[in-house]
Amino acid sequence: MRIDAISIFPDFFQALDLSLLGKARDKSLLEFHAHNLRNYTHDKHRTVDDTPYGGGAGMLMKPEPWGEALDDLLGAEGFHEDTVIIFTSPAGEVFKQATAHELANVKRIIFACGRYEGIDQRVVEYAKTRANVRLVSIGDYVLNGGEVAAIVMVEAIARLIPGVIGNAESLIEESHTDGLLEYPSYTKPASWRGLDVPEVLTSGNHAAIAKWRKDAQIERTKDVRPDLLGE
Ligand code: ADE
Repeated sequence: MRIDAISIFPDFFQALDLSLLGKARDKSLLEFHAHNLRNYTHDKHRTVDDTPYGGGAGMLMKPEPWGEALDDLLGAEGFHEDTVIIFTSPAGEVFKQATAHELANVKRIIFACGRYEGIDQRVVEYAKTRANVRLVSIGDYVLNGGEVAAIVMVEAIARLIPGVIGNAESLIEESHTDGLLEYPSYTKPASWRGLDVPEVLTSGNHAAIAKWRKDAQIERTKDVRPDLLGE
């Protein structure tokens, strides 16, 4: 998979050089490039924003640098069926584990990371003529820009690419994969600061352990995230 991110703060994406995703890149399972939107400006101040038509607070991102950046990444014309352009936005669909699974099968993703009050809407309209477009939010809160949101999504998507995670089983059992939160886990020692591991887990009875874990998943989900159970 190839992922590009367009941003006025490409240095944010250095976080992706670390750990898991660094390994995915080293193994050539994932190619990642961050691009500075200001490289697509032509004035002395490398301007990327302007005031909104109709008035209102704050500044908007101008369309011209975005158009040039997208054309640079996609070529001057044609529709790219194998590419998804994601505009990070608190006004988008909410990113879920299911979204990550969908996107893990895409050949190329381009993240367009807005700042200020957002990007001129015509950039989204133009992008729709060049590739598949999604507006995606990572949650119901407002960040200063889309970079952190894009990093969150890249991490969630990239770890689902086959070969990135050493132990594929850990992907099957984790929170959200089956619509429930993960059960609590314990490691050695069996007793620590007066706190004991639940006895069933040391019993060797696999059926009893499986039942205990399922019950714990349901109990935890009911308690913390009843919305996941439709309650
Ligand atoms: N930009 C600002 N807030 C955001 C959010 N919650 N998700 C994605 N992009 C954003």
